[in-house]
Amino acid sequence: MENINRRQFLKKSAVAIAVTSTTLCGLGGCATITKIGSTSDAKPGSIKFKDNILTIDLSKEPILSKVGGAVKIKHADIPEGMIIAHVEDNRFEIASLSCTHRGVEVEYDHAKKNFECASLGSSTFSLDGRNISGPADKPLKEFEAVIKDGLLIINL
Ligand code: FES
Repeated sequence: MENINRRQFLKKSAVAIAVTSTTLCGLGGCATITKIGSTSDAKPGSIKFKDNILTIDLSKEPILSKVGGAVKIKHADIPEGMIIAHVEDNRFEIASLSCTHRGVEVEYDHAKKNFECASLGSSTFSLDGRNISGPADKPLKEFEAVIKDGLLIINL
């Protein structure tokens, strides 16, 4: 048996974990630990939820105010969560946050104008939630919104 020190052991273990994760995904699984993507959470002070209406004050959301920006909404009354993307001037696209394959968060890709799962499986979805590629076989839920007086209003 090979005699290695602690540092070499840790290095080899990290490589083994990376290879295992990739392999699992390649077999149809999506190895992720946290299921969390890199999209920022909406600021708690910018959102209000009442009577099934979610209101976002865009003046308090600098990331979402810019074209290409996106935030995610995690709220006790919205179990599936949401991702909101500023696609073009005054055009926002909103979809459920969890990939329909295994629940990893999706992210907005402004260059490709689509939503993409943050997992290694990388299912992709059109801006209206339809499946484009990857192992997910169900669409994301799409939400409609209107903009009024600097507020993005989403009727659930
Ligand atoms: S969770 Fe597997 S592709 Fe999204």
